[in-house]
Amino acid sequence: MASPINVAVLGATSETGRSVVKGLINSTEPHYNITALTRPSSVNKPTLLDFQKQGVKIVAVDLDGPETKIVEALTGIDVVISAIHAGHLMDQIPLANACKAAGVGRFVPCCFSTVTPRGVLNLQDLKNSVLDHIKKVDIPYTVIDVGWWYQSTLPRLPSGRTDYIASPSEPCIVGDGNVSFALTDLGDIGLYTARIVGDPRTLNQSVFAYAEVKNQNEIYLTIEELSGEKATRKLLPAEVVTSTIADLVAQNPPQGTPDFFKLAVFQYWNTWGIRGDNQPENAKHLGYLLADELYPGLKGRPFTEYCKEVLEGKAHQVYKDVTFF
Ligand SMILES: NC(=O)c1ccc[n+]([C@@H]2O[C@H](COP(=O)([O-])OP(=O)(O)OC[C@H]3O[C@@H](n4cnc5c(N)ncnc54)[C@H](OP(=O)(O)O)[C@@H]3O)[C@@H](O)[C@H]2O)c1
Repeated sequence: MASPINVAVLGATSETGRSVVKGLINSTEPHYNITALTRPSSVNKPTLLDFQKQGVKIVAVDLDGPETKIVEALTGIDVVISAIHAGHLMDQIPLANACKAAGVGRFVPCCFSTVTPRGVLNLQDLKNSVLDHIKKVDIPYTVIDVGWWYQSTLPRLPSGRTDYIASPSEPCIVGDGNVSFALTDLGDIGLYTARIVGDPRTLNQSVFAYAEVKNQNEIYLTIEELSGEKATRKLLPAEVVTSTIADLVAQNPPQGTPDFFKLAVFQYWNTWGIRGDNQPENAKHLGYLLADELYPGLKGRPFTEYCKEVLEGKAHQVYKDVTFF
C-alpha cells in the first residue's frame, strides 16, 4: 500500500470544501492525512470541530499575514486544495507563493466550476488569472471543474415541497430550456477530487468530472414525474440575460459586492443555459481530461436519486441564510 498523501484544504467549511474533506476522509486508496486551513476567526466553526473528531488537523492561516507563517503551515504538505469564497479568489496569490516556497507538490486552485471559455464569465476569468500566476511561479497544479450542481437546478412546486432547497437566486428556465449542460451532485465533488489529486496523470492538467447531462426542460419533467405536481415555470428570456450582463459589465462591480455575484449568476446562466458551453465535448475541445474516461468505474449519484431525497425533505440546503442579490 502506498504511503499516505498529506493534503491541506483551504475553505474546508465551504459548500465545496465540506464535500472535498468528506471525500478525502472516505478515500482508502490513496489514503490522505488531512489538514484544514482556516481563517483564525473560523477555528471554532462546528464543521471544523466535527472534522477534527474524524482526524482532520485544524490550522489557522491568515492569507493577509506574513508569508513565512503560511509557508510554515504548508511545510510537509504534498497537495493543497483551495475551496475559497468566490469573492476572495485573489487571496490565493499569497497562498500560491507560499506553496512554491514550501515545495508543495500540487496546487488545486479554487475552480469547481462549469466548462466555460475565457471572456464569458468574469468569475472564471479571475480563476484563470490565479491559474496564470500558478504557472508563472511554476507550481505543479490540477484544475478540477465539475459542471453545475444538482443543488441549484430544481423549481418550486405548488405544494412548496422543494422550497427549502430553492436556489437563493430563484429558480428559472433560461432561454428555451433546451440547452444541455453537465451536472454533478455537490456531495460527489469530494469523491472525484480524492481520486483526481492522487493520480499522477492529472498533474498539470485540467479535469472535468460530471455525473449527468440534461437540459432544464428534462429536469423539470423529472421532478414533475416524481412528485406528481406541475412545476412553477418562471421564464427568463435570453435577451434579458444578455442585456442584464451588458448593464452589469458596464458598471464593473468590485469583487465580492452583490452586483459582482449578480453578474456571476447571469453569466453562468448565459454560459450553460444559452451558449451551451458546459458540455463534456466542449471540455475536451478546451483541453480537459474527462474523469469518466480516467476512472470508468467511478460514478456520481444519479440526478433522480437527488430529486427523491429532496421530495422526502432530507436534502442538504446550500447557502443557508445567504442572500445573493
Ligand atoms: N459548479 C457549481 O455549480 C458551483 C456552485 C457554487 C459555487 N461554485 C464554486 O465553488 C467554489 C467554492 O465556493 P463555495 O460556494 O463552495 O464556497 P462558500 O460556501 O462560499 O465558502 C467559502 C469559504 O471560504 C473561506 N473564506 C476564506 N476567506 C473568506 C472570506 N474573506 N470571506 C468568506 N469566506 C472566506 C471560508 O472558510 P473558513 O471560514 O474556514 O476560512 C468559507 O467557508 C467557488 O469557486 C465557486 O465559484 C460552483
